[in-house]
Amino acid sequence: MKKAEKEYPFLKACRRQSTEYTPIWLMRQAGRYMKEYRALRKKYSFLEMCKNPELAAQVTLQPIDKFKLDAAIIFSDILIPLEPMGVEFEFAKGEGPVFHHPLKERKEVEKLRIIEPEEDVSFLMKAIQIVRKELEGKIPLIGFCGAPFTLASYIIEGGHSKNYILTKGLMYQDRPTWDALMEKISEVLIRYLNAQIRSGVQALQLFDSWVGCLSPRDYEEYVLPYSKKVIDGVDKKVPLIHFATSSSTLLELMKQAGGDVIGVDWRVDISEAWARLGYDVAIQGNLDPVILFGSVDLIEKEVKRILHRVKGQFGHIFNLGHGILPNTPVDHVAALVNMVHEYSSK
Ligand code: CP3
Repeated sequence: MKKAEKEYPFLKACRRQSTEYTPIWLMRQAGRYMKEYRALRKKYSFLEMCKNPELAAQVTLQPIDKFKLDAAIIFSDILIPLEPMGVEFEFAKGEGPVFHHPLKERKEVEKLRIIEPEEDVSFLMKAIQIVRKELEGKIPLIGFCGAPFTLASYIIEGGHSKNYILTKGLMYQDRPTWDALMEKISEVLIRYLNAQIRSGVQALQLFDSWVGCLSPRDYEEYVLPYSKKVIDGVDKKVPLIHFATSSSTLLELMKQAGGDVIGVDWRVDISEAWARLGYDVAIQGNLDPVILFGSVDLIEKEVKRILHRVKGQFGHIFNLGHGILPNTPVDHVAALVNMVHEYSSK
């Protein structure tokens, strides 16, 4: 039977309303652990798949056809808006993203373009429209972007980083350039997210994946105002999930920056995290993605533990604490989704 939007358990949980069971989706739920994804990936590069609306829609739906997930997330990447800003990068084989000219100076910030999402990333908007039609009355679609700090770290480091020496170096030693860069990224992200809403996404997630490398003081001083600016600048008609990893010391500040839901990893106890945050926000998480490599009994024990810790409090969205890993056994993913539904059923 088709559901009205207000009946979707995922959206109800985002708004802290009661649900028949705890909704679940998985970060990076479309990806290499699925043979259907790997088959397409033999024919196309990752960026080719992101930039082709039909392929991106097809990949978005792969996990939905296989598991009883309560939300879909559009297949794309946090780096997609950077290319039209004038930041060049590629996905080198086995290395993740590599940027050709890492940003060093103020004059390079001035050159970055403020994008027109409907024109510059029209492929993403088309993919969202296709997926929405397919999912109408079934489950909602989530749009997303990287948060200003996480995107700035890629632009400045030129790729993934261990110690963020260049990013923090710019932040501490050249404040005007840092502020100009964060300001520009924030402006782009507000446009980018609002365009995704216009195209049809029914919720948003802000991924601040690497912000856990900062002290609370530095987060508050150099990052919070920009994350807040993005969240405040987005149309409030869709709920927003504010997610970070290694962020146990930052939770209260993340809440201050905003979001209807705070996404936590597995390094915190979910019940303690929620008590600290307060029950006026919903919470998402917090299974360690590596648990899925263990036995079904282990997965069951962890699912029960997490569900027991939140004790049926309204506003819990079950998820992993970070993206699902390549080589995760597919039958364990199916077992996880079914267990969460079964054990949380009221
Ligand atoms: O959740 C979903 O299913 C939607 C798709 C999605 C991808 N990336 C697809 C992807 C989402 C939400 C992202 C977000 C993303 N991208 C983040 C934040 C989330 C997180 O994991 O912290 C980050 C930091 C990136 C940047 C990125 N993209 C890196 C560092 C890499 C390489 C590392 C890796 O996992 O391979 C990517 C590539 C990428 N993004 C793949 C997928 C499915 C693998 C591409 C391939 O097929 O080779």
